[in-house]
Amino acid sequence: MCGIVGIVGHQPVSERLVDALKRLEYRGYDSAGVATIHDGALDRRRAEGKLFNLEARLKEEPLAGTIGIAHTRWATHGAPTERNAHPHFTDGIAVVHNGIIENFAEVKDELSAAGAAFQTETDTEVVAQLLAKYRRDGMGRREAMHAMLRRVRGAYALAVLFEDDPSTIMAARNGPPLAIGHGNGEMFLGSDAIALAPFTNDITYLNDGDWAVVGKTGAHIFDIDGNVVTRPRHVSTAAAYMVDKGNHRHFMEKEIYEQPEVIAHALGHYVNFIQNRVTPLGDGIDFAKVPSLAISACGTAYLAGLIGKYWFERYARLPVEIDVASEFRYREIPLSPQSAALFISQSGETADTLASLRYCKEHGLKIGAVVNARESTIARESDAVFPILAGPEIGVASTKAFTCQLAVLAALAIGAGRARGTVSEEEEQALVHSLAEMPRIMGEVLNSIQPKIEHLSRELSKCRDVLYLGRGTSFPLAMEGALKLKEISYIHAEGYAAGELKHGPIALIDENMPVIVIAPHDRFFDKTVSNMQEVAARGGRIILITDARGAAVSTLDTMHTIVLPEVDEIIAPMIFSLPVQLLAYHTAVFMGTDVDQPRNLAKSVTVE
Ligand code: F6R
Repeated sequence: MCGIVGIVGHQPVSERLVDALKRLEYRGYDSAGVATIHDGALDRRRAEGKLFNLEARLKEEPLAGTIGIAHTRWATHGAPTERNAHPHFTDGIAVVHNGIIENFAEVKDELSAAGAAFQTETDTEVVAQLLAKYRRDGMGRREAMHAMLRRVRGAYALAVLFEDDPSTIMAARNGPPLAIGHGNGEMFLGSDAIALAPFTNDITYLNDGDWAVVGKTGAHIFDIDGNVVTRPRHVSTAAAYMVDKGNHRHFMEKEIYEQPEVIAHALGHYVNFIQNRVTPLGDGIDFAKVPSLAISACGTAYLAGLIGKYWFERYARLPVEIDVASEFRYREIPLSPQSAALFISQSGETADTLASLRYCKEHGLKIGAVVNARESTIARESDAVFPILAGPEIGVASTKAFTCQLAVLAALAIGAGRARGTVSEEEEQALVHSLAEMPRIMGEVLNSIQPKIEHLSRELSKCRDVLYLGRGTSFPLAMEGALKLKEISYIHAEGYAAGELKHGPIALIDENMPVIVIAPHDRFFDKTVSNMQEVAARGGRIILITDARGAAVSTLDTMHTIVLPEVDEIIAPMIFSLPVQLLAYHTAVFMGTDVDQPRNLAKSVTVE
């Protein structure tokens, strides 16, 4: 989290730095700052809160200079105040940082004992203070940079300005991504290529352990031992990802309504709609031979993986080990090198997911990435990339990326089933036919359910807690519904397997507790209805999301029933995602929260 940018050039930079930060605001929006060197002096402007506060500061007090660095923060160490906002200044050195310096306390104690006066509560300030100390010790700028990088431990993308060198930015990467952009007599730095898209599409990504000296006409890149290294230049397609809200109130709303179109696009990559067949999956992973599959991801992407597990096990008879990446990476899971692993990530930069990937790689597994950002670190480090083709997702709460992840996982599971001989040609055709129907059905659902959802959301917005229940693939979807509601409306919500209700959560049921039950009329329906009876018997208020058949046979007195079309089991999770997402969205709108940028969150989680 946190976004960083830098420009070294021949024209004023501060406005362009803020413009680039706007495209990085998804990485954090607690505070922001910009520093430049002008007439041999470093200067900075910083502001708490969103970027418009920094823009207002810069309007009052503009910053001149043709070299500068800037930062948008997601606070880890130290409150999101102006004092803790980056860039941090110490003795003519300015630093912006994305990541966590893990040994900051030890370094800080050591420097404080030697007389350093710290001005902030951040871990980042040790970088500036260390550099200042090494300069005072007589080291040159590069030597000081190299010594600092060998002293700090942790995750970082760094950009550094030295006041006594107004023509160079130093940069370093270990963990969080950092891209160098090559311009015409100007060079750029950014946490991703989208930040730099209006300036250049000529991009070099630093590898972990790399550091660079970036001047107006090029960059020298070194590894952690100080050896000169070369890294390839890519032509980035990021410019295509610069989007606006169109006629929608929020990016989240736009992204929900885009789903029929993006799912069709994603599916087109994996299935042949004319023959109703899955397109051969390429040679990165041989699903016919792998004895098992490991899946790891975080948050919504993890919940997509959990639904994927049901499919891989059911259709491909492939055992799946799945865990949230923050646990997976440390569990010391015994893994067979013959197996394969799938990592699911919208951003492709999530620190825990990337660490799990590297763990599996070390153990010899073939690595597949189900990602949206095709230029991301997770994509670059994988043997096989399965793009979800959702297009840019700007709303912090994931919607279309989730359903596109599901569509891709469904196609992969069917393809794996064919490769393993567990899905016949006829079954493949029937399943792919259902997938092909999905965009049309999604469009119909989106066109019809809004009034009902809005009405219901008004009631939900008055609640303190909400319970979501489901069985089979509706269970992960229940957890996704709860996650979506809590992250954007701040209403407490939990998702449970319906069968788990009587093992504890039923104690919560009373007349104030809405229970949202996701229950298509599938093979679990009758069992879920029994669980609903248990809720009703205790005065719980049931909101049933079902299909036409489920609504027809259910005799329960529900508070509300949302009726969707009857669909094949494999596409139900995607279709039933729509009311779940819209409920969260409209409830948040009624609550008046910041839907696209909910408090305390960031879109790309590049720290543990
Ligand atoms: C929730 C949400 C998060 C992300 C999670 C993983 O709406 O968006 O839970 O799913 O932070 O992010 P990625 O997919 O970028 O690895």
